[in-house]
Amino acid sequence: MEKFDIPISKPDLSKQDFLEIKKCFDSTWISSKSPWVEKFEKSFAKKISGTKYSVGVNSGTSALFLALKSLGIGVGDEIILPTLTMIATINAITWVGATPVLVDSTSQNDWNIDPKKIKEKITNKTKAILPVHLYGYPCDMDEINKIAKEHKLYVIGDVAEAMGTLYKNKSVGNCNDISCYSLYSNKIITTGNGGMVCTNDQNIYHLIKKLSFFDFNETTHFKHNLIGYNLVLSGLQAALGYSQAKRFKKYINKRIQVFSWYKENFKNEQVKLIISAKENSPNYWFPAVLFKDKNTKKRIVDYLSKNRVETRDFFLPIHLQPVYKNFFKKQKYPISEYFFERGLLLPSYFKITKNQVKFICNLILKKIK
Ligand SMILES: Cc1ncc(COP(=O)(O)O)c(C=O)c1O
Repeated sequence: MEKFDIPISKPDLSKQDFLEIKKCFDSTWISSKSPWVEKFEKSFAKKISGTKYSVGVNSGTSALFLALKSLGIGVGDEIILPTLTMIATINAITWVGATPVLVDSTSQNDWNIDPKKIKEKITNKTKAILPVHLYGYPCDMDEINKIAKEHKLYVIGDVAEAMGTLYKNKSVGNCNDISCYSLYSNKIITTGNGGMVCTNDQNIYHLIKKLSFFDFNETTHFKHNLIGYNLVLSGLQAALGYSQAKRFKKYINKRIQVFSWYKENFKNEQVKLIISAKENSPNYWFPAVLFKDKNTKKRIVDYLSKNRVETRDFFLPIHLQPVYKNFFKKQKYPISEYFFERGLLLPSYFKITKNQVKFICNLILKKIK
């Protein structure tokens, strides 16, 4: 039996998806060499990232790892990232042997990395800025790209959660040198597990293609010039992604609608929803709410859970993670902690109904008093 009547997230898997996977299955082209991989990469670039190129990989974390590798980033290089992010962002940096440098969130109204504080952390070892467009809200890309240009740094976008997000009318995946998406099952479209690396640079594209699959060579198959990896997306996964991408616009519109339902219910109440700058359009992946303190939040999480509604905490900031905290001893990032203590993600998915959202909001409003 399911633990929750209303889970935090649920993939929308349709009959068309199944038929596309079956077509791929019947063709026997099920590996990464399948034509479905190329079809999915092309449709992703056109409909979602807005970039010239995209490479399908087996996770968003692999996408970040390959982005760093393709830029030659390694031991001795420093990479600037926000402390308020999912563990994968820093793990990819650690995997390539580079040094992560943390930055706090912007303000109590903006959980994303603060461009002003980025400037303070730049040294002669800094190679890249890695902004994370958290919970689908875009970072201040004009400022970040300006700083990067001034200091000759790369910008690698962690857009794992920001599929469909627009920064000033432009796909946020087209605002970085390389952008890394996740296709995990809680994302707006999914391949089960998976990711996409996107860029407009042809050389980076070719290098990532090679690195992602052992640097196999078209002509001299078993002669390798690079230490490659095996981080590819399979044909079966790509068939699912290709089919899902056809409904992308519908999925985004539903997330925007669900957010508007939450907003309507929380009007004039003690639940704070972060509103994005007017010129931007977040994908509203999950509605994120903030309570007045951590005890209020705990009370509400328990009450929702008792009523079979699932929620998710905000990420534990990196400087507080057991695995990394010794590395960042005595460093303080109070705004990220503000969000961690008070922030909560509420359910959103394609089939959630207006009544279910009302039910969740009523439980919260009842318990908050
Ligand atoms: C901000 C962020 N970065 C990276 C990832 C890693 O993606 P994946 O789980 O596909 O490896 C995630 C996962 O959802 C994420 O939320």
